Amino acid sequence: MMKFPEGFLWGAATAAYQVEGDNVCSDWWEWEKAAGKENSGQACRHYELFRQDFDLAKNLHHNAHRLSIEWARVEPEEGQFSEEALRHYADVLRALRDCGIEPVVTLHHFTNPAWFARAGGWESAGAVRLFERYCERTVRALAKHIHFWITINEPTIYVSHAYLFGVWPPQAKSLRRMLRVERHMLSAHVKAYRLIHRIYKETQLPKPAVSISQHMMAIVPCTQSLKNRIGVYLRHKLFNERYLDALARRGTLDFIGVNYYSRQLVDVKTWGLRNLIADVCENNHHPVPKNALGWDIYPEGLFQLLMKLKKYRLPVMVTENGICTPVDSVRWDFIRSHLESVHKAIGQGVPVTGYLYWSLLDNFEWDKGFGPRFGLIDIDYTTCKRTVRESALQYAKVCQTGILQ
Ligand code: FCB
Repeated sequence: MMKFPEGFLWGAATAAYQVEGDNVCSDWWEWEKAAGKENSGQACRHYELFRQDFDLAKNLHHNAHRLSIEWARVEPEEGQFSEEALRHYADVLRALRDCGIEPVVTLHHFTNPAWFARAGGWESAGAVRLFERYCERTVRALAKHIHFWITINEPTIYVSHAYLFGVWPPQAKSLRRMLRVERHMLSAHVKAYRLIHRIYKETQLPKPAVSISQHMMAIVPCTQSLKNRIGVYLRHKLFNERYLDALARRGTLDFIGVNYYSRQLVDVKTWGLRNLIADVCENNHHPVPKNALGWDIYPEGLFQLLMKLKKYRLPVMVTENGICTPVDSVRWDFIRSHLESVHKAIGQGVPVTGYLYWSLLDNFEWDKGFGPRFGLIDIDYTTCKRTVRESALQYAKVCQTGILQ
């Protein structure tokens, strides 16, 4: 029997573009059509059905829920803010509070307004100022409902997929452009962090807790060769810690949001920077089960990473962790084994304060479309009918009691 601390936050996460539907002013909306990708369309119609979804979460004993605000709804044209969208999000937050659910709110989760992308997106010199202006309007409108803020979701994933690997809009493949965007995003976080604190102070609200959601990968050597060990060290620094280090140094993290899914098995073939940071094992040495997208399932990685976060001396929240699978019984095994890792880390002194499963609902998995099923709740995409999965009921027992049997 494993008991979690009093007041632990239990719940699930979503992101606006993946569940709301009809985000017609977003850059992704234009891109999915231009690039011939599966269209997000009405997604889960969460924009209308949020009350129903929160009632389901409440019945599943969730006491926290992570969601994101769609910048393109709040500011559909440059400088024109939609009072209606802000009212909508205030209603969403009130609905959560009415269910006794603590919101964790993300300001940027991969998508941008189409006008922002057209003006150069995150590469443009004015990007940080524009993001800050959006944050200012949004935070002023919504602050009284929110304690936990995530400024930017997975900046390392966003910059690499959109500017280095060329698989997300604007499909750039340039280290130089990626580094420029990275600089802007880090500075956007710092500005947003200070802005949020300033607004709470001015309006005499209790101090908020602000962070990013950092994507972390377990980086495991295939053999203990020197090349592999150096590869592991470099990748951990580059992919897992570099942004946290930069932001912690500037005193702009009140806690650490961690998104954890998988492992990378390092097998460096020859000396060379590219090999050291990119070579992976292709021979299925050390096989582990995989999710429906082929990502390794490696629960001990979550424990290892949480232990490494100790040095920051900050509370930690697991802001995403989940599995896509057509076989729901595997989902509960996944959650259970990862919660065991969280519990073990807490026992060894890591102040983990919450666990948010990805995701509450099946949803639009970016360039992969609607195929991967991550939800605690199944969505029938023709009728938008919600069906609670068995794994959700198992997880609900932990959420209700704070005890993993
Ligand atoms: C994370 C994203 C989230 C979702 C999961 C599967 O990287 O933050 O939006 O797509 O992966």
